[in-house]
Amino acid sequence: MGRDVFYITTPIYYANDVPHIGHAYNAVNTDFIARYHRLRGERVFHLTGTDEHGLKVQRAAEANGVSAKEWVDRLEASWREVWARLDIAYDDYIRTTEPRHAEAVRKILTAVKDNGRDDIYLGSYEGWYCVSCEAYYTEADLAPGNLCPIHERPVEFFREENYFFRLSAYADRLLEHYDTHPEAIEPETRRNEVLSLIRGGLQDFSISRTTFDWGIPLPWDETHVAYVWFDALTNYITAAGYADDPERFASVWPSNIHSIGKDILRFHAVYWPAMLMAAGVEPPMQVWAHGFLTVGGKKMSKTNLTGIHPFQLIDEFGVDSYRYFWLRQIAWGSDGDFSWEAMVERHNADLANGLGNLVSRVLAMIESYLDGVVPEPSVGDAESDLPDVIVDAAKRYDDHMIQVELHKAVAAVWSIVDRANGYLVEKEPWKLAKDPERRAELESVLYASAETLRILAVLIQPIMPSAAAKLWRQLGQDGDPSDQRLPDASVWGGLGPGTKVYKGDALFPRLEAGEPA
Ligand code: MSP
Repeated sequence: MGRDVFYITTPIYYANDVPHIGHAYNAVNTDFIARYHRLRGERVFHLTGTDEHGLKVQRAAEANGVSAKEWVDRLEASWREVWARLDIAYDDYIRTTEPRHAEAVRKILTAVKDNGRDDIYLGSYEGWYCVSCEAYYTEADLAPGNLCPIHERPVEFFREENYFFRLSAYADRLLEHYDTHPEAIEPETRRNEVLSLIRGGLQDFSISRTTFDWGIPLPWDETHVAYVWFDALTNYITAAGYADDPERFASVWPSNIHSIGKDILRFHAVYWPAMLMAAGVEPPMQVWAHGFLTVGGKKMSKTNLTGIHPFQLIDEFGVDSYRYFWLRQIAWGSDGDFSWEAMVERHNADLANGLGNLVSRVLAMIESYLDGVVPEPSVGDAESDLPDVIVDAAKRYDDHMIQVELHKAVAAVWSIVDRANGYLVEKEPWKLAKDPERRAELESVLYASAETLRILAVLIQPIMPSAAAKLWRQLGQDGDPSDQRLPDASVWGGLGPGTKVYKGDALFPRLEAGEPA
């Protein structure tokens, strides 16, 4: 295949609305995976972007009295602002309104149209259409009162000529693909869902519209614009160089992980591989569908404005606690509920009392007993099980990251935090400090604890990059922990005796239980 890049994507986000924590959930998880692979020394390509065409966007612009272009420019800026504050380190940001994307969409459409199997044909379509879903419904599907079953808004009757993609011809190839690549859809429940969907029979789907013009015109019939999925999904190959850089495309594609929410699984695991097969392009290696976030047990809607904006929480908890909460709290793949109380509890237990307390205790003791200078581990590490605990935890961390079991990966790192706090309680260095004859022991305990902090700073870097960088500086280290490489950086003994450390401010101040007014 000639690939040498770990390529991971978020979905591209609709530019019809501002982000809520459900959208941010995906990006934080994807960023965690991307950063971890960078730490392993892999070349990583992490892509995100905005989905900027379609009737929904055009209508949102009209409702706000601006042109579609002005509207998407404004929305794109608000998404990027959120990613910046969430420490999302993407390598490329794709907008579907960019010329490079139009070129890729035209190229894939032409490849499918000209594949000799008549996979794109002109047909007609009529039915009840929900603009929010960008989908047709049959009368039987509608909620009472001719409402969309999802959005409970009035649907509109549309009749139009559309081009169709012959998805029905790809069932066998898709089944064969998933049979030989069982890892291509995760988790397994989602894989089973997709398989039964395919086995139940696939319907051709429409790929163009004439009822609006905010889109990419079809190369062979400019009276039609490409309809949502042929436009949106193609972003993943646009950014990999499909239309403009064949060499790069060969080294980047197929993508390792398309990380998505479960609501768009069918499009990613059925439409997308079939479209690629029809165009003579390899399907993605893996589609990973995570669950949905609810707030206080209720669905967060992407079209009404009830969702919580990530800034509401970052302002209170800080970006590191925000990222930690989502990565640790929800079993990756399952749905998860947000509650203020649960977030405060995690913050206080795992961060303020757990990691934060460990850091401040160790650094405070080195400051007051040893003038802030890392000692020689003079009685050796024999008395500490921390080196073994770290080897074991770093191995479990790596295994879980490769298996994409993100919450378990975070828990593996926290087993080090727990053990290091336990070690201090057992060794009681504050007592050793009172006895001049036990100086060597004191130094060994504080060396082992400070060295554990150094390794932790590297291991937590993909989870909480800002806190990791701060801890790195407190430990007197140069550069940023993201410059380190695993597994080397987790090998015991990297912290040089004589290094000057400083305690500084608390990494994670404790929070009061109540919600702010
Ligand atoms: N534009 C399409 C995706 C095209 S990808 C080629 C889209 N955009 S979206 O803005 O509506 O959703 C973006 C992502 O956010 C999706 O993965 C969706 O599952 C996710 N989420 C939206 N609401 C969510 C929650 N409440 N919880 C978790 N993820 C949620 O769909």
